[in-house]
Amino acid sequence: MPYDDLLEIARSLAEEAGALAARLRREGVEVAATKSSPIDIVTAADRATEDLIRGRLAALRPQDGFLGEESGSGAGTSGLTWVVDPIDGTVNYLYDLPNWSVSIAVVEGDPDPATWTALAGAVNAPILGELYTASAGGGAHLAGRRLAVREAVPLNRALVATGFHYTQDIRTNQARVAQPLLARVRDLRRAGGAAIDLAYVAAGRIDAYFEQGLNPWDQAAGALLVREAGGVVRGLDDEAPTHRMVIAGQEDVVAELRGTLLELGA
Ligand code: IPD
Ligand code: CA
Ligand code: CA
Repeated sequence: MPYDDLLEIARSLAEEAGALAARLRREGVEVAATKSSPIDIVTAADRATEDLIRGRLAALRPQDGFLGEESGSGAGTSGLTWVVDPIDGTVNYLYDLPNWSVSIAVVEGDPDPATWTALAGAVNAPILGELYTASAGGGAHLAGRRLAVREAVPLNRALVATGFHYTQDIRTNQARVAQPLLARVRDLRRAGGAAIDLAYVAAGRIDAYFEQGLNPWDQAAGALLVREAGGVVRGLDDEAPTHRMVIAGQEDVVAELRGTLLELGA
């Protein structure tokens, strides 16, 4: 399998970090600080989980760069960067809802989703008991099963997931688009974790996913899962996903959803 060694590092670190975060959750969680807005929270577990991953990578892959949500970036010399969201779905984690995950990917090139090439990634949702993996050219897998996105359906038969940003200006725009969109899809889902949303697209559990305002760590591993499951991940005006918009799913569904989002002024 291509990138076997990188895939094994992503998988085993996601497994170890998921076990740590789950143990810390059982011991109790408090908000440690807020970030972009009063509802954008960080817990001690987010920081401890990222510290574990970053420390292991520093020992295993000292030449590689790092980009993590909680501890920022560090340059490397190899041209590879590990992109890490230690707990994606932190609000679910705080409330003890099961939809949270550890997301780890290694990418080649600048750590920008519009231009990087993702080589390997893992999304571990320990409370769901699901560890998703993918490598470039090697497919996406869950529990030994190769994943494939759902077959094309018209948008009005598509189950579409989305997420809402922590800042009110972006949320206002998202709500304005969601209202008319609801009448044009089978239904909308908001599960609370971008990495799991993307993993569910890869697993064929939803038809498509879109979200405005995602950061690189939210999507690095999940987007690779979708592509390796035969889907596409793109932006609104751009071929590549951007901070402005990420749209993922089967190609024809994404094309129709993209057209609708443009029409609705997303
Ligand atoms: C958030 C989750 C959420 C999405 C937000 C993300 P976090 O990540 O993925 O589903 O709607 O845009 O920021 O803060 O839980 O790591
Ligand atoms: Ca996240
Ligand atoms: Ca996070």
